[in-house]
Amino acid sequence: MTRNKINDILLSDQTNYEVIVKGWVRSFRNNQFIALNDGSCMANIQIVIDLNSDEALIRKITTGAALSIKGQVVASQGKGQKVEVKAQEVTILGECDAEKFPLQLKNRPSLEYLREIAHLRFRTNTFGAVFRVRHSLAFAVHKFFNDRGFVYLHTPIVTASDAEGAGETFRVTTLPFENTPRKEDGSIDFNEDFFGRSTNLTVSGQLEAELGAMALSEVYTFGPTFRAENSNTARHLAEFWMIEPEVAFNDLDANMDLAENFIRYIVQYALDHNKEDLEFLAQRLAEEEKQKPQQERSEMGLIEKLEFVCNNKFERITYTEAIEILLQSPAYKKKKFQYEVKWGIDMQSEHERYLVEKHFKKPVIVTNYPKDIKAFYMRQNDDGKTVAAMDILAPGIGEIVGGSQREERLERLEQRMNEMHIPTEELYWYLDTRRFGTAPHAGFGLGFERMVLFVTGMTNIRDVIPFPRTPKNAEF
Ligand code: 4AD
Ligand code: MG
Repeated sequence: MTRNKINDILLSDQTNYEVIVKGWVRSFRNNQFIALNDGSCMANIQIVIDLNSDEALIRKITTGAALSIKGQVVASQGKGQKVEVKAQEVTILGECDAEKFPLQLKNRPSLEYLREIAHLRFRTNTFGAVFRVRHSLAFAVHKFFNDRGFVYLHTPIVTASDAEGAGETFRVTTLPFENTPRKEDGSIDFNEDFFGRSTNLTVSGQLEAELGAMALSEVYTFGPTFRAENSNTARHLAEFWMIEPEVAFNDLDANMDLAENFIRYIVQYALDHNKEDLEFLAQRLAEEEKQKPQQERSEMGLIEKLEFVCNNKFERITYTEAIEILLQSPAYKKKKFQYEVKWGIDMQSEHERYLVEKHFKKPVIVTNYPKDIKAFYMRQNDDGKTVAAMDILAPGIGEIVGGSQREERLERLEQRMNEMHIPTEELYWYLDTRRFGTAPHAGFGLGFERMVLFVTGMTNIRDVIPFPRTPKNAEF
């Protein structure tokens, strides 16, 4: 007989059939009722064991223990569940020392504490829900693009370029630390390195995705990216996953439409497929919100917020308009912003959140940023000051998407690269697409963990990736 998933048993109204369930004990009361969870859903199944069971066996049924149970599905007498399993055979697969098991604690463990035991936190309701939702979102990403004829392109993890030109890369090398090979001028001789050159982990698959788009028209990447930025915030990881579609013949407007439809689609997918998990997370968030002072509480519950995003167009404004709104805002006039506001600034999180949470109260797409705060590849606008960039700002998160129309004109691109000291010889392959049949194109990057934060209502990015990598932290 094969194992029955708890989710399948609970979803079905059928009774009086035999099953084998396997999972971990969440609780055991009155030496009779086991709440068993196998991760297939939020809910536990109730297992009722014979009161005359062997005492030695009973002693081993502790929170955290792994069990296999053969039994009969019957209508439940108790409240809270339609069906339960009347056990005929209980096998202990793995005992759990209740005294030492960190999740045995009766009080709800804090998220901070659970981060220290990230190898065990999957066994809590919160993390079960978060990672089931994360899975659904990832699946929805592939489904969205597949349904629209995009090609999933696997861009490299090890590269010799810094796509964003921000110098925040992790080096990849096999050179020894001692007696490192050096050239005559004393500098490190990367000819001796594994790849015969200096290499690093990718910060973005965009440049390679652009090459694919110049033949396949519609491509996307979905992979891990790495940034050695020393920002210890609730929104930054050193290793995070990014989705980057790149589309030939798209301009900035088409790029915004794609991003907006894409976000709505994956949110709707989670609403349709993770109802129980999202309701649990909504409840969790509502309790957390109650701890906050009145004026800081959000007006919408989690599910309401997600439905709102699915049913309403995002606001679209230019960077120049955004700065104007900030300068006119009561917050600015009352000197509530910590950072300066003027045309040319890279907006801080407090500015982005003001626009999204206070002013528009919905996601906002900001376009046409000053060229000096954006990457070299963005298409230069005719005003000579701005580029065809777009950032999507989400309530409670800030920037969730960064993208642009790309500079497809060879001369303009080379000139900008020179101005920004980006080596044109090394990126000859990138420039070749502009030499051989260049075409307008556009794309964007969605930070996957920021999206998971948004959908789950969690507040720290470390709690939506199984094993977070942050400065001074790479455990597990
Ligand atoms: O705005 P970014 O840097 O854009 C790019 O990398 C472009 N190459 C994307 C493209 O056009 N194909 O990053 C894109 C998104 C951000 O909006 C943010 O959501 C996320 O990636 N992101 C991070 N998420 C977690 N931790 C970090 N350190 C992040 N840095 C960026
Ligand atoms: Mg960005």
